[in-house]
Amino acid sequence: MAIIFDESRKLFRLSTTNSEYQIKVDDIGLVIHNYYGRSTCDTDMSYQILSVDRGFSGNLFENRDNRGRSIDVLPQEFSGCGVGDYRISSVGVVAKNGSRSCDLRYKSHEIIDGKPEIPGLPSVRPYDDDVTTLVITLEDKVIGLEAQLFYSVFADKDVITRHTRFVNVSDKKIHLEKAASAMLDVQFGSWDEIHFAGRHCMERQMSRNKLTQDIKVISSKRGMSSHHENPFVILCDHGATETYGDCYGMMLMYSGNHKIEIEQDQAGSTRIVAGINEENFSWCLEASDAFDTPEAIMAYTPSGLEQLSHIYHNIIRENVCDRKYMEIKRPVLINNWEATYFDFTAEKIIDIAKTASELGVEMMVLDDGWFGKRDDDNSGLGDWFVNEKKLEGGLKRLSDEIGKLGMKFGLWFEPEMINEDSNLFREHPDWALVDPDRHPTMARNQMVLDMSNPKVEDYLFNCISKILDDANISYIKWDFNRSITNVYSKNLPNKKQGEVSHRFVLGTYSLLERLLNAYPNLMIEGCSGGGGRFDAGMLYYCPQIWCSDDTDAIERLEIQEGTSFGYPVSTVGSHVSASPNHQTGRSTPLATRGVVAMSGTFGYELDVTKMSEEEKAEVKEQIKTFNKYYWLIQKSDYYRLVNEEQAEVYKAWEFAAKDKSEALVNIVVKKSQANAKIKIIKLRGLEEDAMYLLEGTDNMMSGAALMYGGFAINIAMGDYPSAQLHFVRQ
Ligand code: GLA
Repeated sequence: MAIIFDESRKLFRLSTTNSEYQIKVDDIGLVIHNYYGRSTCDTDMSYQILSVDRGFSGNLFENRDNRGRSIDVLPQEFSGCGVGDYRISSVGVVAKNGSRSCDLRYKSHEIIDGKPEIPGLPSVRPYDDDVTTLVITLEDKVIGLEAQLFYSVFADKDVITRHTRFVNVSDKKIHLEKAASAMLDVQFGSWDEIHFAGRHCMERQMSRNKLTQDIKVISSKRGMSSHHENPFVILCDHGATETYGDCYGMMLMYSGNHKIEIEQDQAGSTRIVAGINEENFSWCLEASDAFDTPEAIMAYTPSGLEQLSHIYHNIIRENVCDRKYMEIKRPVLINNWEATYFDFTAEKIIDIAKTASELGVEMMVLDDGWFGKRDDDNSGLGDWFVNEKKLEGGLKRLSDEIGKLGMKFGLWFEPEMINEDSNLFREHPDWALVDPDRHPTMARNQMVLDMSNPKVEDYLFNCISKILDDANISYIKWDFNRSITNVYSKNLPNKKQGEVSHRFVLGTYSLLERLLNAYPNLMIEGCSGGGGRFDAGMLYYCPQIWCSDDTDAIERLEIQEGTSFGYPVSTVGSHVSASPNHQTGRSTPLATRGVVAMSGTFGYELDVTKMSEEEKAEVKEQIKTFNKYYWLIQKSDYYRLVNEEQAEVYKAWEFAAKDKSEALVNIVVKKSQANAKIKIIKLRGLEEDAMYLLEGTDNMMSGAALMYGGFAINIAMGDYPSAQLHFVRQ
């Protein structure tokens, strides 16, 4: 049983294959976080919570004579506010009488087989896995607020998901000013926090920092999860490496304003609180109203960063993304964006598709510029009807022509946006998020639609459905090309304006859900100026997300590696683009661009009609290679193989089959050097005493030799050479 409640000890034990999580209700109803780590063999870990009287850390009234037990230092499951825990609060309230205090105590609990859905929000899917859910209801009796803490234990996946449902059980209004999804108090340890920061064209760069007694905040208030700070943090042993050390992960399954706070307190404990960013958030709970937070995906491993990544990769590809993509091969695509930008005709697209189909490409994706008046990025967003001047015969003709080539057809949309210069804005200026008394802040000359308004959602559903009904379209690239400002909905009363940011995200999720229900074979690729909305919330709807607008293979090494800490390669949209690269001007060999793009969903984004015959022949081979390794790349365990020093010169990463039958090692040299040091690659994830043949050679080595001795390579000369080595168990 994954969840056990021991009535006599008031102890909950949540067990996965390799971890245990303990919760204990104390004598005054505080819900104490007892432990999260390796299995304890049924030991109540509360013996670790020592009674220490700390100055200026007060005591709840019932504990006034028990000064060693202050909520300011006790590890808890969900902190209240205003009653003596000065660390990060999990909740913020304003009660009818203006009081801002909340003292949450145990009320009841329930253990449920399986996992309930979260209304309106994406959540990790239980399918038929071994999943059990614990719901602990906390209550503040004075203001009549319940916080129901949901813990779903994915036993075989070493994951615990969490979310919170707030219920107003009073007969008066309560305003929620903060509503965290999950809190984790880790009592001991010397920790580093790792988060993934970046910018447009350089997303998710690992940033690792030793924790000191302060608060670290990873957040976004851009209305999207953002290029700048991904909603995923790791807490790891100060000495943790890829293969060693305690690691905790906290990932928020949310695509809007998020906040993950990490605090090390006076006593050396560490608290993580994750949830919706409270800036620009307040939610009015009328009597008996409920509010559900987004879900957080939590994991623990004693075995280093690599194992933590594997846990997240497994849960995301099998339980966050639609699991059907574990069986359906997704097409190798070609996208016209970097080939033509806005300057194309139907004939040009057909030409590209024709050449690409001869090379083995399976889908043509028509990017921005096919609709309304859209010859540059200043107009047309919102007018989702085809521009027949540009595309004679419309999308029907184009998709038919592409179909005749044996290819699928995909189309770009940016549904949540609107240009001032569009028919939609002229007809419905009130559908844009605009503060009534200000000029809107512009970005790419566009504004953001009010997705909290059901009429906007209906309009988009109808427009997109019409396009999907009229032509043969199997894929949508769903873009989002600016951060949100002027968050004000003309559709909501003044007092509800604090709800708009979250209602926006709910509107987007609802639209995605409706479209996927209506078109079950449609595949949606997420995008936001590349990877500005690369998060588990979007992955619930989109099995892949365009990882970055930076298509330079060498920069992509860093971007894709950073992404790999939390997200599997099967979700990483990655294309071979032109050389010199359009973002950096760097020239790289076609082979290297192929190796890097293959560590993703793989496709092309260049004008193949302009390629030489030699290059075309190489592309043909690349596609064959990718198809040969497709399932290995999609389903295997991913290993980052180089240390920090080696990474200055080269990167190497590996896909090892879960049954250890084969492994594909990829190497790209970033810096060519004269008289260079030998590069030794130590493989991982092999069977020690099995023999492996390096394909294309007579080299046969044991798994142990390859893992502990390594494989020495002397790679070709020139700029940015690369290699792929395929080892097959004999
Ligand atoms: C974003 C995307 C690009 C492309 C452009 C079109 O930047 O990330 O791939 O679709 O929009 O405007």
